Amino acid sequence: MSVRPVLRMGDPRLLQVSAPVSRFQVAELNELIRDMEDTMRAERGSGLAAVQIGVPLRVVLFGYGFNPNFPASEAVPMTVLINPEIEPLGPDRESAWEGCLSVPGMRGLVPRYTHIVYRGFDPEGRPFECDASGYHARVVQHECDHLDGILYPTRIDDLSQFGFVDELEAAGRLAGGTLPCDDTCSGGRGGK
Ligand code: NI
Repeated sequence: MSVRPVLRMGDPRLLQVSAPVSRFQVAELNELIRDMEDTMRAERGSGLAAVQIGVPLRVVLFGYGFNPNFPASEAVPMTVLINPEIEPLGPDRESAWEGCLSVPGMRGLVPRYTHIVYRGFDPEGRPFECDASGYHARVVQHECDHLDGILYPTRIDDLSQFGFVDELEAAGRLAGGTLPCDDTCSGGRGGK
């Protein structure tokens, strides 16, 4: 097991554009994916991009269980998505609270497409695609943004909707929100 430190906002490495993976089924890629899984579990995250542990390759990982606080968010199995592309299915967007392991202790209200199809490759280099909506679509958009050096605070329309988790919770502003994106799954209600 190898848990790697997660870079935090302000580190210029998080702003770089990650390079596509060109070789599959090689030790370096397998090791990277293992380290990402270990790190995400250790941080109790629901998603992680390789660049967050300092490796600028187009690899993201996401997955989370059912959370009774958010029954509308169905569980998504642990998924490795390499060289992803996202196509919005329609213009509809919705705003929900997001968090990020690289922006610890904070949440912001971010608009995302509600329905997308994403395409990419699995660790063996096999292409696959998936239709996603709601929280699933949100996590994928959040993680893929990391590959282009974009952190969620730059997606917030109204910066009055950005703050520390404990203050937002104390003010009751996270109640009824969605699961935080790649941050812990404690949610806005009855959380940590
Ligand atoms: Ni993130």
